[in-house]
Amino acid sequence: MKALNILIMLALLMALTITNLSATPSDDEPLFVHNDGDEDRSQDEPTSVGFTSRFLAQKPRGPMTCDRYPRVCRAAGSAGPDCCKKRCVNVKTDWFNCGMCGKKCRYSEICCKGKCVNPMSNRLHCGGCNNSCNKGSKCLYGMCSYA
Ligand SMILES: *[C@@H]1O[C@H](CO)[C@@H](O)[C@H](O)[C@H]1NC(C)=O
Repeated sequence: MKALNILIMLALLMALTITNLSATPSDDEPLFVHNDGDEDRSQDEPTSVGFTSRFLAQKPRGPMTCDRYPRVCRAAGSAGPDCCKKRCVNVKTDWFNCGMCGKKCRYSEICCKGKCVNPMSNRLHCGGCNNSCNKGSKCLYGMCSYA
């Protein structure tokens, strides 16, 4: 998230700089031709503010979605490091994107380490991910038991 903030700050700074540069040249701009004398100065500020807010208003229209900025999924607070359909997920555990985007598990299955498994009978994920049964033990109805 820190890198993101810095990027946004940089973008803002650049926008402000551009605004100031375009606002400083004296009254050659056609916008101000019909204003005479002292009015120009007061007219300057609202224009640059308008430009900046228009720039800011464009941000939501071009959101930082992971399809365009894959790095957002690795930022702190992300739901996962992988990007599926503009959303950050973890394909190791995501039931809708298990192992890869769009790979949905069956209703009886859960997603463990990127694989759809049935926790009722899977020896390595018995009753839940990573709950492996001992040698000679079977997974029955989600519990390790001796046959
Ligand atoms: C299962 O094990 C893997 C690798 O050892 C680990 O990354 C993952 O967090 C574990 N999952 C759970 C639910 O404990």
